[in-house]
Amino acid sequence: MLLTLIFVLLLIFFLYTLVRQLKGASNTSLPIPFVKNGCLPIIGHLIPFLKDKSKFIFECQRSYGSRFFIELFSQRMIFLLDPNDWSPVIRNPNLSLPVKDFGTKTFGISRGFLDDEPIMNEIHRYFKLYLQSTESLDFLTARFSKCVRDVMIQDRARIGSHVWHPYSLLELSHRMIFEASGRTLFGDMNPLLLEKEFLLFDKKFHYFAAFLPDFIYSLFLRREMNARSSMTTYFNAHPHSNNESELVHHRAKRILEAESRQPNDLGASHTSIFWASVGNTIPATFWSLFYILRDPHALQKINEEICTHLPPFSFSDPNDKSFEFWTSGNIAKCVYLESAINEVLRIKGTPMVSRKCYQDTQISLADGTIIPVRENDMISLFPEVVHSDPNYFPEPEIYKFDRFLGKTTDAIKGLLTFGSGKTICPGRHFAKNEIKICTALILQNIDYEFLETNMNINCVKNRIGFGIAPPDCDVPIRYRYKE
Ligand code: HEM
Repeated sequence: MLLTLIFVLLLIFFLYTLVRQLKGASNTSLPIPFVKNGCLPIIGHLIPFLKDKSKFIFECQRSYGSRFFIELFSQRMIFLLDPNDWSPVIRNPNLSLPVKDFGTKTFGISRGFLDDEPIMNEIHRYFKLYLQSTESLDFLTARFSKCVRDVMIQDRARIGSHVWHPYSLLELSHRMIFEASGRTLFGDMNPLLLEKEFLLFDKKFHYFAAFLPDFIYSLFLRREMNARSSMTTYFNAHPHSNNESELVHHRAKRILEAESRQPNDLGASHTSIFWASVGNTIPATFWSLFYILRDPHALQKINEEICTHLPPFSFSDPNDKSFEFWTSGNIAKCVYLESAINEVLRIKGTPMVSRKCYQDTQISLADGTIIPVRENDMISLFPEVVHSDPNYFPEPEIYKFDRFLGKTTDAIKGLLTFGSGKTICPGRHFAKNEIKICTALILQNIDYEFLETNMNINCVKNRIGFGIAPPDCDVPIRYRYKE
């Protein structure tokens, strides 16, 4: 019975996509090449694209140059890899980040609610106000420092001081960020209650962000769908917590007031922010520690400036208020740390800056070529191509902690780890502070040793395209508290 149902669904889907693809094929004329390799009927280039985006895009670039297009099911995806072509894409008002597709497909928010423009505009305003204003950023930054200190106090009580504890670097990054970030944004809730579900969902995140047909999720990703539902259910039952951040407070309040809201929309919206706040920050912290902790010169410089600008915490005095000095301003004085983190964002930042076309339009590229873009097309910029281009970054394959010293990130053309334009990541300043705080607190309080010399570690391939991908294997370490 079930098999028959699956067969019928697949058949309907097959015919539907075939018709759409035939309709589309008559209309695929673009003044840039269509990629022939790896294209299958119905699904187009889905397989090589999902398997290893980076490899696929670099291969296409070698064969077709910096402009080409592919098809995913019947959707055209236009790649523009030359940064000179990016600004007409970023500026075109008819092209924007497919926030609604992310909302529905990835997190299960209802379409009707996402179509409520006044609410969405207001929530967008909250991102600016409560994640980026100096006051809010300072508040979040100091609170996060305190929360990491609390995690360290518990951890030290668990393993004891001066006792070596075998662990691994990704686990350590996760331990430092996950709970502290959750408590900073959501207040007095216990993020560890959602840890198992988060890890399950996060592992298959790339499928949820690929906007596949719904039946694929129900058939093949049931456990992950259930994990996502559990997080949604938790947040539906706990819309507010004591000491929640202003962002979460105002956003939850506004969502609860909205007439367009469906029963799960608040929980699903909280889940989306919960994932956005840790999904990339944990791997980014891993890569920062991975590079900085193994570079004696970086360590010396960074240790010196941390010692000067960021007062150490007490593990025994509960009234210790040192974290109040861990403001964005003081953290920004650590210029080597800033450069070292920017270098991580360059070498491991692999987002795909994707824009969906919501109304037929055209874009005029740097050399005057006009590309007609039709509704539902996607345009993708892939900053990794620039991040690894020696013309922009000499010896791009080498991690140089002081590469960005004296340069502002915004001034460097092409460093787009946080996206660009109207939807540029609103959490980027907070995220960078989180990574810096973890690095600084580990340097101040923890002795560590790497237990393996083989450090040939790459990114998880199918996570490339969403910010910063986690490592494909963890790095064994041991650590102990100094005090
Ligand atoms: C290293 C860490 C992070 C990276 C690499 C990252 C990267 C990104 C990228 C690439 C986008 C899409 C931008 C675009 O295409 O225009 C994005 C969007 C977003 N990020 Fe982040 N992010 C990080 C941390 C955070 C944190 C800590 C938060 C919240 C506290 C956050 C909240 C968001 C939100 C809400 C959006 C959607 C913006 C919108 O709808 O306009 N991110 N992020």
